[in-house]
Amino acid sequence: MRPVNIIGVGMTRFGVLADSLVDLAAQAAFEAMTDAALASGAIDHVCVGCQNPDEFTQRGHVSTHLADRLGLVPAGATRVETGPSSGASAVEAGFNMVASGAAEAVLVVGVEKMSEVDRGQASRILSKMISFEDEARYGATPTALAAMIARRYMHDYGLTRDELSLIPVKAHRNGAKNPLAHFQKEITIEEVCSSRVVADPLTLYDCSPTSDGAAAVVITSDDLARNVDVPRDAIQVLGIGHATDYFAVQHRHSLTSLSATVRASERAYQMAGIGPADVDVCEVHDAFSILELVNVEDLGLAPRGASIDLVKKGSLEVSGEIPVNPSGGIKARGHPTGATGVAQIRDIVLQLRGEAPPGLQTQSPRIGLAHNIGGFGNNIVVTILGAE
Ligand code: COA
Repeated sequence: MRPVNIIGVGMTRFGVLADSLVDLAAQAAFEAMTDAALASGAIDHVCVGCQNPDEFTQRGHVSTHLADRLGLVPAGATRVETGPSSGASAVEAGFNMVASGAAEAVLVVGVEKMSEVDRGQASRILSKMISFEDEARYGATPTALAAMIARRYMHDYGLTRDELSLIPVKAHRNGAKNPLAHFQKEITIEEVCSSRVVADPLTLYDCSPTSDGAAAVVITSDDLARNVDVPRDAIQVLGIGHATDYFAVQHRHSLTSLSATVRASERAYQMAGIGPADVDVCEVHDAFSILELVNVEDLGLAPRGASIDLVKKGSLEVSGEIPVNPSGGIKARGHPTGATGVAQIRDIVLQLRGEAPPGLQTQSPRIGLAHNIGGFGNNIVVTILGAE
């Protein structure tokens, strides 16, 4: 495999936005291409991560539409879909094209526009990623499954409601400093606990929102990274791991661990030739507060049941030993599903370049990890990036 670099990044604001799906994707893409200082003619392929544009926006064939809109015709164009991990899977597709020598430069765009449908419709669309036969037809939604995991985790490890609230409080503290985040306001433990219950024990502030937004990265070979007009610190993709788990949560071996994260991270660590102790900064998929604790343990960053101790010690803060979600995470940065995985990777690139927003830059990180969940924990991608 050839070395693969990320030489340009872009992202729109996340939130409830007026722009169309393709307008959002184009804004992020143009920013990434400008950042890369790469002429559009150099792009061989566009990979678009998007979960469900057909139902959220009544628009289809997004990859071709975007290639045309960006002036990239006749570059190849492909849409990649693995649920809310579509963004990271699109980066993986671009990585494989460049690593194999099939392409020199790939533009990857993650995008979703979820605000055109009402809440009931959004929940119905999102629930299509869980098993109809074993879950959705009994009324389960992604939030209900997360609530079940939270209850089991509290039972097994003695986690309290107030302790769980520390996760969204941290997310919102970071999101308040992120100019592109959906939610830019701090919240308190009391607000988390007293906000309305969505699926007991999870309240409004334990849940990620449904958002609009897009993010993009430009992936190139070493040769191209060195020969662009304005070469900048290239960030290398050191490893990518991808794994699935059984479709329905009830068929899995554990409620308090996502084995697809364990497998995907083992593969990514192995490809990168590193271990969990080498990771300096992480963006993990905290679609529901409980998942941040589960993810940190599944990634090997804390022993089982002990991630809350790291939270209480401040180790996961921007200034901590292993900062997790300095962007505000999915909870506060927002969650336009197809965009999330690309946004996480864009945010890790900024961390490794030392270009994170004021107050969110971690201390001289060299290795960063992005963890993106698709479905309810059954299609997971872990990407490891390194600064030269
Ligand atoms: N966190 C904090 N505030 C939120 C929020 C969230 N997750 N979701 C909505 N809000 C705020 C809105 O900004 C709005 O504030 P305002 O009145 O000041 O404008 C208010 O709450 C009402 O927003 P609304 O969109 O009407 O809330 P809702 O009750 O319809 O939806 C959830 C809230 C939590 C049910 C919804 O965001 C949800 O379903 N989230 C989970 C999405 C999901 O499953 N994603 C896939 C995961 S992989």
